Amino acid sequence: MSDAVDLRSDTVTLPTPGMRKAMARAKVGDSRRGEDPSVRALEEHSASLFGKEAAMFFPSGTMANLCAVSAWTRPGDVIVASSASHIAGRESPAVSHMASVAIIGIDGPGGIFSAEDVADAIAAAPVRTESKVHLVSAENTHNAGGGTVFPLAALKRIRSACGKASIPFHLDGSRIFNASVASGVSLSSYGKVSNSLMFCLSKGLGAPVGSVLAGSRDFVREARNVALRIGGGMRQAGIVAAGGLYALKHHVERLAEDHETARMLADGLENIPGMEIINGPVETNIVLFRWMSTSTELPAFRERMRERGVLLDDRGFPLLRAVTHLGIGKKEVAQALLAIRDVVKR
Ligand SMILES: Cc1ncc(COP(=O)(O)O)c(C=O)c1O
Repeated sequence: MSDAVDLRSDTVTLPTPGMRKAMARAKVGDSRRGEDPSVRALEEHSASLFGKEAAMFFPSGTMANLCAVSAWTRPGDVIVASSASHIAGRESPAVSHMASVAIIGIDGPGGIFSAEDVADAIAAAPVRTESKVHLVSAENTHNAGGGTVFPLAALKRIRSACGKASIPFHLDGSRIFNASVASGVSLSSYGKVSNSLMFCLSKGLGAPVGSVLAGSRDFVREARNVALRIGGGMRQAGIVAAGGLYALKHHVERLAEDHETARMLADGLENIPGMEIINGPVETNIVLFRWMSTSTELPAFRERMRERGVLLDDRGFPLLRAVTHLGIGKKEVAQALLAIRDVVKR
């Protein structure tokens, strides 16, 4: 459905003409041997944005998070993350199987937990698991929480709690650029508050492939070794890295437009009887909402929306997610709202 208003995720974005041109012109080499100039340029630029010593280009955020966890921990260790985080959810089979760590999930509104929660989890781990916590991870923005921004002050307190226990603090910054644009917090502040940080190029930034993991030189060397062991070594990856570098240079400021369209969508939804925004007000590009209907036809909702050319992400119906991105403007939001109003009315 090529003309659909596709709100399922910001991963559905297609490369822009400028990005395609940059990719076509990219100088490439064997990146597994460290010889791809475009990959190196992306890694150096990424490290400098966050004030880190080094960075590595990965095929996906899942692999970058896994390599971060593996680099910071040893089999049998415990890590702490929000219960609804990507690491504790979709990635947990990978981290538990391949890094052999257990995850203690902690809760907080919109996935935002506190330093006290972290200290409690650190204290509880030996009792609950006969192991110690060796890593804390926070997700910013928090996807399943509805694109919530982790406040910098909370991150600083968590970092300090981690420091007291000599535990590293990892940021799953899959959508860290959304967080920075929405909050005005600099990327270097996010870099400073974390020991390692992962961000995705293939989400709101609109690149076709890849994520970057940044940290100290030693940490990145270790993560790179893990990545190579599990088949993450790429060859002429500069073709896709060039798309990522283009995105970092041209697609960051425009994320504010996605936040505006997401707010417009949320405002419209709030005016539709039975629709409830979860964890509002919407801060970034993710709108989490629920249809509070008692209709027995509930499961047909998404299908009817699809017939109207609007695609939504089912988060366990009646919970739904809509994500705005560079393929969605005000016209598409208006179209989606019209379709939702019609389908709900029937
Ligand atoms: C918060 C978060 N972390 C990590 C990932 C994993 O990224 P990838 O899809 O590139 O593996 C995602 C993907 O949706 C995500 O939302």
